Amino acid sequence: MKRDRDGPAVVLRGETFMASRTISSVIQARRQLEGEGFPIRRPFPTPALPDLDPFLMLDEVGPVDYPPGQALGAPDHPHRGFETVSYLLAGEKLHEDSAGGRQLLRPGDVQWMTAGAGIVHSELPGPEFKAAGGRAHSFQIWVNLPAERKAATPGYQHLPAAEIPIAEAPAGGIAVAVIAGEAFGVAARIGTSTPVWLQDWRVAAGAAAEVPIPSHFNVAAYVFEGAVAFGPDRTVIADGSLAIFAPGDALEIAAPAGSAGGRFLLLAGEPLNEPVARYGPFVMNTQAEIAQAVEDFRAGRMGAIAR
Ligand code: CO
Repeated sequence: MKRDRDGPAVVLRGETFMASRTISSVIQARRQLEGEGFPIRRPFPTPALPDLDPFLMLDEVGPVDYPPGQALGAPDHPHRGFETVSYLLAGEKLHEDSAGGRQLLRPGDVQWMTAGAGIVHSELPGPEFKAAGGRAHSFQIWVNLPAERKAATPGYQHLPAAEIPIAEAPAGGIAVAVIAGEAFGVAARIGTSTPVWLQDWRVAAGAAAEVPIPSHFNVAAYVFEGAVAFGPDRTVIADGSLAIFAPGDALEIAAPAGSAGGRFLLLAGEPLNEPVARYGPFVMNTQAEIAQAVEDFRAGRMGAIAR
């Protein structure tokens, strides 16, 4: 048996038992409209799955093809008590916030924003993209903060596409954009408040890997292109579905030979195991803290975007 750098035991097949994660449930993302009316697929939150501790929300925005001048976004809105992650696949997004942040996101870019104590935030199509029209496609993920970090100073980490580490499976056929966490020994450059992995996996037909993931993490995979097989039974998960995994030490990932391969977002993280009180854009531990957040926002204490 050999050991990964600091992860759990890596076991050579047939040599020793390893607890491979099986699929505990599959959720089909619902299509709905969000913000000014743009189409999304949202695996959670839903009544069936309020959150996936420490993840609070997963939205796939689009893909949607906008005529010139028609692209939509999410104008000024507040957040408190958690982090928002934007990962662009196509199009351009202009981020502005009440802390003075202003950043244009292009395809492949990641913005990891800590709303913390409170921020007012605007996410609109970049002006040039809006004028020209085109395809918009992105992810918006909400990651909870532990109680002691909910009042953190707001800010964000921006990583352009070219600076996101890419990991490759030793056997080939798999490439991973390591937004957070690590894959195949490649560590992310984004820092997280608690242990969180967020990765974009591309799996070619016939490729397979067995990946150690800390056993106490909650783990899920959202397939958004083609199809990918997971677990010891190689259960095929299709485009638009979220697979949630049972506890284990490792995750088996494959794309059947002769398939078109697939692409998925891996979400994994150490659960906070704290009470979650949420109301729209505020996520705290108690209802009293939610009431305070609403009052603080209405009183203008989360600031305003200077334009
Ligand atoms: Co926002």
